Amino acid sequence: MAITGRLTMTNQTSIHGILAEFDSVDGILHAAEKVKQEGYRKWDCHTPFPVHGLDGAMGIRQTRLPWLVLVMGFAGCSGGILLQWWTNAHDYVFRISGKPDWSLPANIPVAFEMTILFAALTAFFSMWILNGFPRWYSPLFRAKCFTRATDDRFVLAIDARDDLFGEETRKLLESLSPNTIEMIEAPIEDGKIPLRLKGMLGIALTLLLLPPAMIANARFTKSTQPRVHIVPNMDTQVTHRGQEASDFFADGQAMRLPISGTYAQEDDRLIGEQVGFWTGKENGAYLSSIPMDVTPEFEDRGRARFGIYCSACHAVNGSGQGTVHLRAQELLSKTWVGPTDLRTDAIKQQAPGQLFESISNGIRNMPSYSSQIPAADRWAIVQYLKESL
Ligand code: HEC
Repeated sequence: MAITGRLTMTNQTSIHGILAEFDSVDGILHAAEKVKQEGYRKWDCHTPFPVHGLDGAMGIRQTRLPWLVLVMGFAGCSGGILLQWWTNAHDYVFRISGKPDWSLPANIPVAFEMTILFAALTAFFSMWILNGFPRWYSPLFRAKCFTRATDDRFVLAIDARDDLFGEETRKLLESLSPNTIEMIEAPIEDGKIPLRLKGMLGIALTLLLLPPAMIANARFTKSTQPRVHIVPNMDTQVTHRGQEASDFFADGQAMRLPISGTYAQEDDRLIGEQVGFWTGKENGAYLSSIPMDVTPEFEDRGRARFGIYCSACHAVNGSGQGTVHLRAQELLSKTWVGPTDLRTDAIKQQAPGQLFESISNGIRNMPSYSSQIPAADRWAIVQYLKESL
């Protein structure tokens, strides 16, 4: 038996523990029994493979982990059910297709997932905590004989923090006839964080601050650039608004004039016999009558079209108090121009052709309705305005 390392216990604080190396399973089993009998509590065996009966010899009790997992699993399950009950059946009741407000089967999946989640996380983290992890380094690694604990030697280590630790500990171990006994010094820990680690932490913290800083910057600054736009398609092309200036054309206008001697296809209705029907005007004067047969069906159609297209703003009775108007007044009280009261003399005196023109081309703040309402229907509306409002 050779004894290496420091054996004097004068400086208790610098001792981490004592270690005895055995070269057989029987040796370590016997030693473990003895150490247990003596009443030591903070000690452990390190073996290259699981040794049958060692747990018993060491008097290791069953771990509390399964109970922790069970309790937390239950907590997860009931938490999941409670949350669903609170949110869907109590605080804000979900009524869907006449189904019952509260029915357990619908809540099983979430409850199940919560059980698994809580149980698994508890198992994972409790295992770490109960084992004293994370621990980067154990002073045991300083012992020369400890390297063979993963190969062909059996090592018993008693921690210096054990109440019974003292001169007798070494004597006890010597009496168990080990190969070697080794004292392990505790590393000198001054509690200071090494400079290099501090530097690395500093860099990591700075990097961590970058994303929030970028988000804050994006939220509080304005940019004329579009947002991150990976596939631009044709979303941001150079386009011109009507009446805009443009360097592209020699005349400096973005809008092009029709080529002289041509007219757009839809304009062919502006020539020939039906000019009055299409424009409400003939020879520069508003038509003074409806250029169509006025039948009861025609009048009904006018009423219906007015209801569909105009009443939202002008109201069914033409007063100008339609729902769009009422709402717009709330939202844009300062800038909103209300729809005209269509029952006033000023409107009543207008020629049918002028009313037709207002509907067709829009007037001041009112948009054009020619693309939505066919010309014949527009005349029907005019008839309704003139005769029935
Ligand atoms: C989106 C709301 C809105 C709709 C829908 C609407 N109007 Fe108007 N209308 C207005 C507003 C606003 C004015 C007043 C415009 C102004 O004074 O700038 C107006 C004015 C008018 C005038 C008065 C024109 C004048 O000479 O002063 C007539 C007539 C008229 N609308 C008829 C109609 C008819 C007919 C319809 C259905 C086809 C219709 N409006 C649909 C908002 C609307």
